[in-house]
Amino acid sequence: MRGACPKRYTVDNNINATHNILAALVLLDLDAHVVHLGTMGVYGYDGAGLEIPEGYQQIMVRGDDNVIHNREILYPSNPGSIYHMTKTMDQLMFQFYAKNDGIRVTDLHQGIVWGTQTDETRRDERLINRFAYDGDYGTVLNRFLMQAAIGYPLTVHGTGGQTRAFIHIRDTVRCIELAISNPPEKGDRPVIRNQMTETHRVRELADLVARLTGAEVAMVDNPRKEAAENDLRVSNASFLKLGLNPTTLAEGLLSDTYQVAQKYADRINRDRVAAATVWTKNQKPGVVTVKALEEGKARGDTGDVVQMQDSA
Ligand SMILES: NC(=O)c1ccc[n+]([C@@H]2O[C@H](COP(=O)([O-])OP(=O)(O)OC[C@H]3O[C@@H](n4cnc5c(N)ncnc54)[C@H](O)[C@@H]3O)[C@@H](O)[C@H]2O)c1
Repeated sequence: MRGACPKRYTVDNNINATHNILAALVLLDLDAHVVHLGTMGVYGYDGAGLEIPEGYQQIMVRGDDNVIHNREILYPSNPGSIYHMTKTMDQLMFQFYAKNDGIRVTDLHQGIVWGTQTDETRRDERLINRFAYDGDYGTVLNRFLMQAAIGYPLTVHGTGGQTRAFIHIRDTVRCIELAISNPPEKGDRPVIRNQMTETHRVRELADLVARLTGAEVAMVDNPRKEAAENDLRVSNASFLKLGLNPTTLAEGLLSDTYQVAQKYADRINRDRVAAATVWTKNQKPGVVTVKALEEGKARGDTGDVVQMQDSA
């Protein structure tokens, strides 16, 4: 389990970084537009029967004498990790500084980024992005592709029934461009945009990568405290309206990440691949065991291996 020190470091680092920027803008009397990369994790992932809106929720509150009052509030925060918790606290700082000091803020609630290359980074190897593959910082689809590239079983946490929101890295960059070009007015509340393009269930992503690469799947213990299965629908209407043309998984870009991971496979430390950090003392690390591999095989025939296409 993460101890108090890493938790305190995460809170101090993340919240102070955000607050320092806001306080500095006020101190210097600068009318800058702050664009923040937040996360879908501020909402939690309970999307059963509803579509998660873009930041704000209309509510009706019964007041004095049974009068119903209409309000629009920040969608109720439901963080599932210390990291997500800091992003929910960022939202409150933005709300306050926008109201009190007229700071213009766009908060981008981003899904899980996949892919490594944008059109720009492809132009020269020296521009290549940093690639987090480990159990703490690596994100799920990139991790599956890296695991496949080095012959490591795909580590599916629990049943793999977690549904999450995703975005390709080139759409991330495009969304930031669109957000910068469409700032709020001074005095507006923070603009919140959901920066995601599609949702996927983790075990289905593992099956897809296994089919493409022939990798084994391991159904490992879930080191995180989270719902085993969930549905998720998310609005991304505001970016679509601004002209985002979503990149989807079907477009063959999976091979980019697979090839990058293969190319730099000698740099990968296999001891750091499994997710060893547990969310509470009741969770177990997501390490590959014989039982996990058997369960991966028993989950079913993942179908024929199909050839990974080069998208470049
Ligand atoms: N990668 C994802 O799937 C994902 C999903 C949702 C949201 N996000 C958010 O997007 C942002 C970028 O994530 P990333 O995956 O590119 O991570 P990253 O680690 O590649 O980039 C984070 C950057 O922030 C810098 N940094 C950290 N602490 C700092 C501080 N106190 N002051 C100044 N700089 C500091 C780091 O040096 C690094 O360059 C983060 O805010 C992250 O929370 C990422």
